[in-house]
Amino acid sequence: VTVSVPVVRPDLGDEEVEAATRVLRSGWIMQGPEVAAFEAELAAFLSAGHVVAVSSCTSALELALRVLGVGPGDDVITVSHSFIATANAVLATGARPVFVDVEPDNYGMDPRQAAAAITPETRAILAVHQLGFPCDLAPLLELGLPVVEDAACALGSELDGVRLGRPHGVIACFSFHPRKVVATGDGGALATADPQLATRLRWLRQHGQEGEHFVEPGWNHRMTDLQAAIGRTQLRRLPAALTERRRLAARFAAALARSPVLAPPSERPGVRTNWQSYPARLRPGAPRSQAEVMAHFAARGVATRGGITNAHEEPAYAGTSRFFVGPGGLGASERLRRETVLLPLYHGMTAAEEDAVVSAIDGLA
Ligand SMILES: Cc1ncc(COP(=O)(O)O)c(C=O)c1O
Repeated sequence: VTVSVPVVRPDLGDEEVEAATRVLRSGWIMQGPEVAAFEAELAAFLSAGHVVAVSSCTSALELALRVLGVGPGDDVITVSHSFIATANAVLATGARPVFVDVEPDNYGMDPRQAAAAITPETRAILAVHQLGFPCDLAPLLELGLPVVEDAACALGSELDGVRLGRPHGVIACFSFHPRKVVATGDGGALATADPQLATRLRWLRQHGQEGEHFVEPGWNHRMTDLQAAIGRTQLRRLPAALTERRRLAARFAAALARSPVLAPPSERPGVRTNWQSYPARLRPGAPRSQAEVMAHFAARGVATRGGITNAHEEPAYAGTSRFFVGPGGLGASERLRRETVLLPLYHGMTAAEEDAVVSAIDGLA
C-alpha cells in the first residue's frame, strides 16, 4: 500500500457537519450568536479578557496596529521571516516595516536586534510566534513600545505556564486558516485585556459602526456564524489535539535524534509549542541538501515544505523601498529558509501515516 501523507490535514468530522447544519437550519448565517459564543469560549480557553473574532488573522493584525495608532510615517519593528501577511499588515496601515533577524532555535524575533532597531519613528513591535514556538517576549515587552503578537500559528502554545493570548502583549492575533490547529476555512481573532480596545475593535470590524452611527471610517472584517460554529467544535477538541500533537512531536524527535542529516527542533525551558508545524533542520555539514531531503520524503509519499519565506526576498518587497532592515541584518532568517524542512504533523494522523514519516526519517542518510 502506498501512503500519501500531506503536510497538514484539517480535522473535519461529523461534529463540524452538525455545527454547520445547525447554523444553516437556523437561517442566520452572518456574524451573530455563534460568533459571540465562539468569542466567549475562546476568551475562556485563553484566559483573555476580551476576544474579537474577525475574517482572518491578516485582518486582525491590521486592526491591532490601527487601534494602537499606527499609521503613515510610523515604523513597526517586525520580522521578515514570516508568512507575508505579517509585513503586509504593517503596509496596510500606511506604516513601514523594519525587519529584524530571528533567533534560530525558536524562529522568533531576536530581542537584542529589536532594541537596536528602535528610532524616534518606531511606533510598535509586531512579534511573531512562528510555527507555534513562543518567541522571547519578556525582553520585547521591556522595550517600552506596544507589542502586538502575531500568534497566527500559536493557539494553545504556552509561555511560563500561561497560554499565549492571555495576553502577554497588548493584543494577540490568531488565525483559523486550514493549516492551523483550529480551522474554520478562513478566520481570525484578537485577544486583549483592554476593554476599550476591544470595543473599538468591534466597531472597526464592522464599518466603524456603533449603534445607529458610523463613528469612524471602517471596513468589513466580520467572521460568519458558519465559521464560528465550526471553530467552536474544534476548540472543544483542542486540549486533546494538543496532547496528540505533543506525542507525535516526541516520536519524530526520537527518530531525528538518530539522523545524520536532520536535527529535531526543541522547546526552550518554560515554553510549550502547540506543534502547529514540525520544523526539522539540516545538521551543520549535512551530507544532503534541503532539495535532496525533500525529494527523499516525496519519493516515500511524505509531503514536506521548505523553511518559512522571508518577506525581503519576495518580489513584493525585494528591491523596493517598502521596508527597512535593522542594523543586525537578516542572516539567520535567510539561513532558516534554506535549512529548515517542515515535516507533516497534525492530529488525526493515521498510524500508517505516522509510521511513513518515521521510516522516511530513518531512511535518510
Ligand atoms: C505568522 C502568520 N501570520 C499571519 C498569517 C495570516 O493568517 P490568515 O491566513 O488567517 O490571514 C499566517 C498564516 O496564515 C501566519 O502564518
